[in-house]
Amino acid sequence: MKKLLSIVALSLLVFSLVYGVAALSAEAAGKKVGVAMPTQSSQRWIADGKNMKEKLEALGYVVDLQYADDDVQAQVSQLENMITNGAECLVIASIDSNALINVLAQAKSRGIPVIAYDRLLMDTDAVSYYATFDNKGIGTVIGKYVEEKTGLKDGKGPFNIEFFAGSPDDNNAHMLNAGMFEVLQPYLDSGKLVCVSKQTDFNTICTLRWSQETAQQRMENLLSGNYGTGKDVDIVISPFDGISYGIAAALEGAGYKVGTKWPLITGQDAELMAAKNIISGKQTQTIFKDTRILAEKCVTMVQAVLEGSKPEINDTTTYNNNVIVVPSYLCTPISVDKDNLVEQLVGSGYYTKAELE
Ligand code: BGC
Repeated sequence: MKKLLSIVALSLLVFSLVYGVAALSAEAAGKKVGVAMPTQSSQRWIADGKNMKEKLEALGYVVDLQYADDDVQAQVSQLENMITNGAECLVIASIDSNALINVLAQAKSRGIPVIAYDRLLMDTDAVSYYATFDNKGIGTVIGKYVEEKTGLKDGKGPFNIEFFAGSPDDNNAHMLNAGMFEVLQPYLDSGKLVCVSKQTDFNTICTLRWSQETAQQRMENLLSGNYGTGKDVDIVISPFDGISYGIAAALEGAGYKVGTKWPLITGQDAELMAAKNIISGKQTQTIFKDTRILAEKCVTMVQAVLEGSKPEINDTTTYNNNVIVVPSYLCTPISVDKDNLVEQLVGSGYYTKAELE
């Protein structure tokens, strides 16, 4: 009897799985989705593209995945090609969204829905949904990490600090910066944080295209112009692991050594190299953004616009792109340092233990 029951249960399970998959495939059946990613020069976007492609293909969509090597015009051409080749939905992580306004209008006029992936598409009404992480929240998390780790919160200081921000054409860079300064500005005001270079303005501290080389150069200039002869930098705010590598290289060049007067350096993306640098002490912290979850949320948005289903949305007020407020799903960023790195990155299956060695 028991055996019979389990056979019936198993058959039901198999039937519902087959039926479910068949139903999804029928809706998706060969519909073309264009996925435009900014660059392969950083590990996260490679993972994002791979996750999106795999998840969409598993549902029966045909995916045209393109990377633009941070070349704004190349991304415009890729999107034009996707439209010409019959894409029925576009998923876009933009390089400079202002350059996309015309091609997005073209998509809209042909009834092709657009989903903004990680980076908001600004100044357009041609975007249906936005899947991202809480970008201001990331800045807040970075600020709070510094506040707690250094003891600023308990009255310690003064500490010398320098700031780096992301690319000025990326809305995320502005939001992160705002969240971070909201936490740390009071300490600059009270003198517990001292920005020796006095460079705190976004336009001065930003890093076009989030470039590691640009960051390294700026850090070299900051060190040679403001530090040395007994004056050391204690904290460097970095909004991206790639920028943190540039900062670390400049510090090494100026004679700083891990373990002695090496400053606290933040980051973002939990890249494998950053994780290794955190273990070795070359970087202090990063922000873990689980791109698997982001891709999952984005796929539900693709299904919504192509199949008429309802995607999960958890923010309908924050992301005003100067034309419309884009309904968004914000994933939660997690601060990672040497104390929780293995638990977060290995425990979640993002990396294997062997990869970190
Ligand atoms: C993303 C970050 C990434 C940065 C540089 C931002 O738009 O939100 O995760 O570090 O771009 O690629």
